[in-house]
Amino acid sequence: MQFDVWTKGVATLETDCLVLGVFDEGELTEEARAVDAASNGKLARVVSRGDFPGRSGETLLLPEVEGIKASRVLLVGLGAQKSFNRKLFRKAVGSAVTAIARTRIASAAFALARPSFKELDDYYFGRVIAEVTGTTLYRVNDLKTAQKPKPPALERVLAGPVRGSGASAARRGLTHGAAIASAARVQRDLGNLPGNVCTPTYLADQAKALAKAHSSVKVTVLDEAGIRKEKMGCFLAVTRGSAEPPKFIIIEYKGPKAPKAPIVLVGKGITFDTGGISLKDPPTMDEMKFDMSGSAAVIASLTLAAELRLPLNVVGLIAACENMPGSRAIKPGDIVKSAAGLTVEVLNTDAEGRLVLCDALHYARRYDPAAVIDVATLTGACVIALGAHHAGCMSNDDALARELVDAGQRADDRCWHLPLTEEYADQLKSNFADVANIGGREGGAITAAAFLGKFTQGLRWAHLDIAGTAYQGGANKGSTGRPTPLLADFLIHRAGR
Ligand code: BES
Ligand code: MN
Ligand code: ZN
Repeated sequence: MQFDVWTKGVATLETDCLVLGVFDEGELTEEARAVDAASNGKLARVVSRGDFPGRSGETLLLPEVEGIKASRVLLVGLGAQKSFNRKLFRKAVGSAVTAIARTRIASAAFALARPSFKELDDYYFGRVIAEVTGTTLYRVNDLKTAQKPKPPALERVLAGPVRGSGASAARRGLTHGAAIASAARVQRDLGNLPGNVCTPTYLADQAKALAKAHSSVKVTVLDEAGIRKEKMGCFLAVTRGSAEPPKFIIIEYKGPKAPKAPIVLVGKGITFDTGGISLKDPPTMDEMKFDMSGSAAVIASLTLAAELRLPLNVVGLIAACENMPGSRAIKPGDIVKSAAGLTVEVLNTDAEGRLVLCDALHYARRYDPAAVIDVATLTGACVIALGAHHAGCMSNDDALARELVDAGQRADDRCWHLPLTEEYADQLKSNFADVANIGGREGGAITAAAFLGKFTQGLRWAHLDIAGTAYQGGANKGSTGRPTPLLADFLIHRAGR
């Protein structure tokens, strides 16, 4: 996909499709009025006949409009003008791309209204258009044998109006938005693959392919023997019940002119979570193929850093294995030793994410990192607390949590800062080991974070619980690509934007 900006003369844009906004009750936007004037009042007639009331998300394709260079016009409803904002702008771009994707239109020029500059500056204006275009064109990577429908023809997109002085910021936004959409696609494709395809070995191979594509990326994969050498007893405990070999994947991206201390992203890579001996209920167990979404977001984020050549050092650490029952699987009550040396009583084998993460987080120490962020579909409790709207954000560093909340806000991929005060760790007391791996039902998302907190003392660390946001169930079951946009925004801002 090619993206560029346009700055003036909406009626003279040469494109297959000019995308114009109409507010509620048929009120034309400034660009639509300019086209209306050039076409002898065609748009006003359409609207006054009541053919297009401008409700948010509606579209109408007008095949031939005189007086302009574009060969078609697509009207897009924007809703009430006074409440028009960034979120509705996103929705409008998405509706337009959905309508365009049903046609053979190969080039489109967006000339929707712009929300206030404060809501969407030139950079984010470009970024939203490219990101939403890319995301809307995503098709699930299903394994159906029927012939796939033709991919959409759309290849070139112009975004505007942008004042001449804002063109370079908007162009940078377009580049970043396209990179965010393709990174989110990386996460979604990995998440959507079934557990028998997307194994720990498959994830390791994807990481190796990334290193092959970018000389700035180095990948090292530890197999079971290597994991044992690192004394990752908690990680090994989780993989014990599975015949599928575990992998510890280290992805190191070195950016140009980067500050030395890296940002370390740690991903939960449980390629299938049956719960182990503490077996889960059958009805939605298939969704536990998405339990590697954190690791997919880490691979996606490193892809983005490399593609945009961000001036940062970023390390991705992925603990990948299956959580299966079996005669060799860990049992409730088993005590295992973490790489950090703490002993852990495994009271519930279904609380496996924190077990693989604690060893991965310990591994992060050797980098003397600027920040460590782990990303994990960690708890059902987080889904109960925040639903699908926000990821949970817990941290031992309020400034880092703030940075992530702000990044999520700007990227429209939000997370919510939950308290991680000292009381929660008390719920993890064990009679037999240094710590238990569960802390009861109350505050379950936070006690999981408190468990991780025992392994991240002295690090600037934050934890994103994406159990509710990384995928959706139901008729449109599939990976959402979240929190890749949030992490992308975080990295882009750390890189000085
Ligand atoms: N992968 C699950 C968490 C999860 C639940 C993700 C629902 C997405 C949707 C995790 O490994 C798990 O099973 N957590 C347990 C922890 C409990 C045993 C303390 C849970 O949330 O039930
Ligand atoms: Mn589990
Ligand atoms: Zn899990």
